[in-house]
Formats: sequence, C-alpha cells, structure tokens
Amino acid sequence: MKKIYFEEILSTQLYAKERAILGIKDEIYIAKKQSSGIGRNGHSWFSPEGGLYFSFVTDIYNDIYTLTVGIAIHKALKELYGIESKIKWPNDILVDNKKMAGIICERFDNLVIVGIGVNTNFNANEIENIITIKSLLNFEVNNDILLEKIIENIQKLVYDNKVLTIFEKDMAFIGEKRYISQIGKMATIKGIDEAGFLIVSDECVDYKISGGII
Ligand code: BTN
Repeated sequence: MKKIYFEEILSTQLYAKERAILGIKDEIYIAKKQSSGIGRNGHSWFSPEGGLYFSFVTDIYNDIYTLTVGIAIHKALKELYGIESKIKWPNDILVDNKKMAGIICERFDNLVIVGIGVNTNFNANEIENIITIKSLLNFEVNNDILLEKIIENIQKLVYDNKVLTIFEKDMAFIGEKRYISQIGKMATIKGIDEAGFLIVSDECVDYKISGGII
C-alpha cells in the first residue's frame, strides 16, 4: 500500500472517505497530528503531535474485520514492545484499563475505511482514561515501525480462522460484571459467538450484544 503523509490534517478518516468515494483504495493516509480526529459513536479522538494516526481503504476484509484489526494492534504492541494489552469488545485496546488505541471501521460500497489511532509518543499522565506507550515505557517508539507491524498483522489475520479464539483469550472484562447499555442492566461478559457478537449473561438468560459496552 502506498503511504501518503500529512504534517497536519483535519482527520485521516475523512480524507480516506473522500478517496473511497472516488473508488481509490490501497493507500495509507498518515498524519503527524489531527485537528478534528474522529472516534466512534460521534466522539472525537484526541490527536496531538507524537501519536500515530492513520486510515486506509481496502476491499480485502471479512465479517469480523473490526475484531481482526483489534488483534493486529494487540499483537503488534506485544511483539514490538512486550506490552500486554486487553481488547475491550469490539475494538478498544486497553492497558491498565486505559485506552492505548482505538479503531473505527466504516463501510462504503464494497470497501472498508479503517482508521487507527495509537497513543504512542505524547505525555498523557494528566489525561483521564488515556495511556500512552511513552508514559508506560519511558521512551519513544518509532511510529512507522508500529504502523508497518499493524498492517502486516492485519494482512496475516484476515485469512486466519482462529481470530475469534484469539480474541476471546485477549479480551478485557471476561467473567466480569459490566453495565451493558443495550440491555440496560449489569451482566457478566461471557465471550463472543461465531459471528463476533458479544455474549453476556444476567444469570438467567444469555444476550447477544451488537453495540458497545460501558
Ligand atoms: C475510537 O476508539 O473511538 C476510534 C478512534 C479512531 C481514531 C483514528 S485516528 C486516525 C483516524 N482518523 C480519525 O479521525 N479517526 C481515526
């Protein structure tokens, strides 16, 4: 995939969407910082200089692509830096229960627009719910090497039929009780089913969850 770099951009995700609309795929858009980084569910994504922010458009994906990308990041952090992260279903990468990376996947025609943000080389000690690699390891990492590793892992995992098993093993909050907004009550996180939905239980009934969890 061809890489296109920006010193600063509103959002690589918005840019990638414009390219997807033109039918352009297989390019990676990388920005040093974003002035209007987009998160899921209408949230913004804090994107100061130092972090890794990129989006790409591809037609090679599967039904559980979001989970696949989550594992790709989880594995890259472990392989390159020995970081033990957990994946909060469907796609937040947590370390010490704080967010180290986020993923957004959006469909357009037969394409998927994937945006990944990793909190790498800025200080986030004062920011609630965010953890950076720099604050964890006390050194800065090479954003290009991390990006390459994530892409390499995605390309391998998209053909791997063990993705769901790997996901369950590295999933956050398994066996724990959490408030599940989709059913409006506390329930125990049991795992995921063969389609990648979250399975939770309130002791009487199992529920299949398709939205996020709190
Ligand atoms: C989330 O966890 O809510 C998803 C966050 C996705 C952030 C990335 S950073 C690169 C790309 N550009 C954006 O504006 N958003 C995604």
